[in-house]
Amino acid sequence: MKYLIDSADIKAIEHISEFYPIAGVTTNPSLVAKEKTEFLPLIKRIREIIGEDADLHIQATAKTAEGIVNDARLLKNAVGGSFFVKIPINEEGLKAASILKTEGIGVTMTAIFTSQQALIAARAGADFVAPYVNRLDNINADGVGTVAEIVSLFEMYDIDCKVLAASFKNVKQIADVALSGAQTATIAPELFKLAITHPMTDNAIDGFDRDWRSVYGDNDIGSLLF
Ligand code: G3P
Repeated sequence: MKYLIDSADIKAIEHISEFYPIAGVTTNPSLVAKEKTEFLPLIKRIREIIGEDADLHIQATAKTAEGIVNDARLLKNAVGGSFFVKIPINEEGLKAASILKTEGIGVTMTAIFTSQQALIAARAGADFVAPYVNRLDNINADGVGTVAEIVSLFEMYDIDCKVLAASFKNVKQIADVALSGAQTATIAPELFKLAITHPMTDNAIDGFDRDWRSVYGDNDIGSLLF
């Protein structure tokens, strides 16, 4: 499973991109609005940080198929590189996805809550579908189970559409979608640190440091190799 950053916070994207192996960034209108800043410089800066080869998923805000297609063309033109327009699933969105498929513009169908929505989105030509794991868990549904169903359906019918699992509130959900076979997951910045943190790891590092210093003091390896 590859990891993407689910954020429009420039400082957070800079930090995560510097330290973690990320495949791209996803945003949505809520995440962008939270930044309370000019839209175009924001998305251009995100592209600058992650580079042309990383996937950048930005959501259209138009409500009609024609409007969504127009948003997608303009967004692709603005950010270049590996770009996917996010489109919430509904009839207009499906129509837009089919049109964009013929134009070679990448599509991520989002706000997915059922496996049937995912299958239909994939048939319409979506490159990714984004099921919302935590929002499903919040209503006593099975977020990870829904992701697993989608992965199975795509395998069963040999469909070339990837799962971009989204909406996480804890590392257990991320670990479980990885085991379900989801190809990608988009994660809020704060969850990256949690995913790599373990008290036994900190303990091991402290032990290595203590033992080393007991013999070599402040000399690091670099200073002992001349
Ligand atoms: O892009 C979709 C994702 O950001 C939704 O996450 O945390 O708002 O449920 P959340």
